[in-house]
Amino acid sequence: MLKTGLIGWRGMVGSVLIERMFSEDNFRSIHPYFFSTSQAGASNPFDIPDSQPLMDAFDISCLQAMDIIISCQGSVYTKQVYPELRGLGWAGYWIDASSALRLNHDAIIVLDPVNRSVIDAGLESGIKNFIGGNCTVSLMLMGLGGLFKEDLVEWASSMTYQAASGAGSNNMRELIMQMGRLEGSVSDLLNDPKSSILEIDRLTRECIASDKFPITEWNQPLAGNLLPWIDSEIGNGQSREEFKNQAETNKILGRSNNPVALDGLCVRVGAMRSHSQAVTLKLRQDVPLDDVHAILRNTSVWTRVVQNKKDASLTELTPAAVSGTLQVAVGRLRKMNMGGQYLSAFTVGDQLLWGAAEPLRRMLEIIIEFES
Ligand code: HSE
Repeated sequence: MLKTGLIGWRGMVGSVLIERMFSEDNFRSIHPYFFSTSQAGASNPFDIPDSQPLMDAFDISCLQAMDIIISCQGSVYTKQVYPELRGLGWAGYWIDASSALRLNHDAIIVLDPVNRSVIDAGLESGIKNFIGGNCTVSLMLMGLGGLFKEDLVEWASSMTYQAASGAGSNNMRELIMQMGRLEGSVSDLLNDPKSSILEIDRLTRECIASDKFPITEWNQPLAGNLLPWIDSEIGNGQSREEFKNQAETNKILGRSNNPVALDGLCVRVGAMRSHSQAVTLKLRQDVPLDDVHAILRNTSVWTRVVQNKKDASLTELTPAAVSGTLQVAVGRLRKMNMGGQYLSAFTVGDQLLWGAAEPLRRMLEIIIEFES
């Protein structure tokens, strides 16, 4: 069995990955080694036969002994350890949740329901770096990938509604703290049906503006607010998150040399762990809506097409409906006033599952199959 080193398994994405690996019985097909950046030598917390104590995630000779390494530790770790490891001639498979190597020529961004042929061709040609995509990009393709696979998209513009989880576990905690603070600032008035809504609004605004409002992680209020910028500035007016849309989508599809134009605005909202996005697509031709539905259903077994009706949209096409599941919902599908080639869509999926951990877990399975 392939020796598989796991790094960053205590973090949020890593924990979801381990949970999914147990659910799918993946530990039976590998020889797992758990690495730690801070607790080497401590005992392994999982009930896995023959498992070793935690190994040092900075010990290059231990890492060199692995056939596969899966890192959810983040870009700083990858940038520190990966070049040294490869520099010493390590020829194992590197599977990574972080963006550090994503756009490298010798790396493939993995999203196998959409780009299995790109992955298979990469394996055959000796590619050893398989990197999870940006969550917003992966979730957009899990919803709308069928249209891209059929080369029906001339361009697409997405407006995102990204959940707190994309910024990390401490940000999720702080969002809930902010929500609690807001409720606490007006709880007496909320319990009095005769109280003035304008007074409630004034007090919550005061609470949000107060220097006691918890903003250590976000630097800004998110509860009762939204944040129209995600990640750093890259100097052309786009945020880094917005830049990834076109660059990563086309790389996933294996068409970086003939890219589909994609752009839009990325916005943080107070959802917990599912990213949504409203997408306007210009199709290359006027595809009938029934055909669009059929093509989208074929994207993957996890893609769920929701009828463009009020009830279905409000109950099935929301972060609350899909969080904690592998289903990626796509709905609000209709032709727009601009003409039959213009399609409106809304997609939503769990940021930690298909947005982060699941493509990595499935890549592990694909490598095991390829190597067997
Ligand atoms: N950058 C994403 C976000 C998460 O901030 O929501 C990681 O893909």
